[in-house]
Amino acid sequence: MNSVRRTTSILRNEYHGAGIDPGDFAEDPILQFERWMEDAITHKVREPNAVHLATADAEGRPSGRIVLLRDFSERGFSFFTNYSSRKGEELDRNNHAAMTFFWNELYRQVRIRGKVFRLPAEESDAYFRSRPRQSQISALVSQQSRELENREMLERMADEAEEKYRDRPVPRPEEWGGYYLAPDYVEFWQGREHRLHDRLQYTRTAPEGGWTIRLLYP
Ligand SMILES: Cc1cc2nc3c(=O)[nH]c(=O)nc-3n(C[C@H](O)[C@H](O)[C@H](O)COP(=O)(O)O)c2cc1C
Repeated sequence: MNSVRRTTSILRNEYHGAGIDPGDFAEDPILQFERWMEDAITHKVREPNAVHLATADAEGRPSGRIVLLRDFSERGFSFFTNYSSRKGEELDRNNHAAMTFFWNELYRQVRIRGKVFRLPAEESDAYFRSRPRQSQISALVSQQSRELENREMLERMADEAEEKYRDRPVPRPEEWGGYYLAPDYVEFWQGREHRLHDRLQYTRTAPEGGWTIRLLYP
């Protein structure tokens, strides 16, 4: 309880930013996201690309976890994971998802919603090849989100894979790869004094359509 109170008071005293001037905001939320991501990097936000990803199963029961944003472009926001994990299975049945960034040091939040699609296999191959060998080995042996009997078993599997692929490239497991979230909703939130926060919402009704911009009450 104490620690919760402490966190709240840190937030209250946080940097409140300059506020959102809609006139200065890009017409395209991806461009605006790029500016805010650059700000986050410049202001040395810790793990600026760590993002909460919410999915829901076929019955609508939600589930959230952090992933690392690997890239973003007009197509959407991409991340890598195991296609057979809980999130992978949920996305197979219901590809609606949401991402939330929180950049505490800037008192900013970005909320994104849309549909998720798998990246082409060549892109997953290219990214897998670029990863450190140890990460490739763990992707190979981890049956993400399945029950693990004990830690030793995981380490033994990693050692065995290491031995097996000693002199050759580690192949990308078929169930490991990327997704991108194609947004139809992006909202920028800037914390301000006295809780008179700024919110700017971008929505579109067609995948290639133009964006409608609205201010929202905090
Ligand atoms: C900072 C941070 C970064 C993470 N990045 C990833 C990631 O990029 N991909 C991934 O599959 N899991 C990542 N994880 C682990 C996930 O939060 C989660 O435990 C895992 O993906 C299994 O989730 P699921 O059972 O809902 O599928 C990360 C966790 C943290 C705390």
